[in-house]
Amino acid sequence: MKKMSKIALSIVVIGIFAVGCATTNGSVSDDSLSLRKANVQNESSITLKKVNYTNAAPGEAKKIERSYDNAPPLIPHSVVGLVPITRNNNSCLGCHMPEVAASVHATPIPKSHFMNFRPTEVIAKNGKLIKKGDIVARPNDGSNDVFATSTHGKLYAGRYNCTQCHVAQSNAKPLVGNTFKPDYMNKQQMNRSNFVNTYDQGINTVK
Ligand code: HEC
Ligand code: HEC
Repeated sequence: MKKMSKIALSIVVIGIFAVGCATTNGSVSDDSLSLRKANVQNESSITLKKVNYTNAAPGEAKKIERSYDNAPPLIPHSVVGLVPITRNNNSCLGCHMPEVAASVHATPIPKSHFMNFRPTEVIAKNGKLIKKGDIVARPNDGSNDVFATSTHGKLYAGRYNCTQCHVAQSNAKPLVGNTFKPDYMNKQQMNRSNFVNTYDQGINTVK
């Protein structure tokens, strides 16, 4: 009898342990992780909903208000025939490089895209860390740090793949609602960026 109750107690203890494990390990299943409501381990059965991208050719589209101060502007025109961007072919540059933009009424690529915010570090002979390049921004704290160097009018390679940050627009319905409203520093920020003038706000820098 005594033996029996010991066994019963062990069963209860194991049971409680098992329930504990189930809630910690099993509370988020692979089926409930994705907004697509499908198992994230196997997406082969998913057919994406058909959406329509804007047909307006470059020059015929209406610019879209910026999502917030210095947000990357959304692409308002069609990108059919302009993507994919490849190593040797980037048609976006044909209209958006600053020297041509005005003639086709496109917004010129901003100054920030001609700066290297990850300046190359080199160790000098004396063991000190110095940075290569023409410094365009550094902190005013007596350190040898560098914020940005100039790329001398050559597009910074990290900006080459435009559609990594600038995206074409479709009529897809958002899966999650969003009530965010931007609070622009000034009205111009609704359709123009001024990142190179403001990125160091609040940080003591000399240029
Ligand atoms: C044939 C010229 C042309 C080409 C090529 C082109 N664009 Fe444009 N782009 C424009 C024009 C003109 C506008 C202004 C809106 C309009 O008139 O359609 C514009 C607007 C934009 C805007 C919005 C700018 C703003 O101020 O809101 C972005 C972002 C953009 N284009 C990105 C791209 C990207 C990325 C590519 C390459 C995939 C590209 N464009 C290719 C001419 C072009
Ligand atoms: C790493 C992300 C990133 C990439 C890649 C990128 N941009 Fe941008 N772009 C931004 C952001 C962020 C802004 C707004 C802040 C600023 O001006 O730097 C911007 C601003 C712009 C603007 C608006 C300028 C203005 O005066 O309002 C244009 C036009 C533009 N980019 C074109 C391009 C084109 C064309 C490419 C490809 C050659 C490109 N960008 C690549 C992030 C990116």
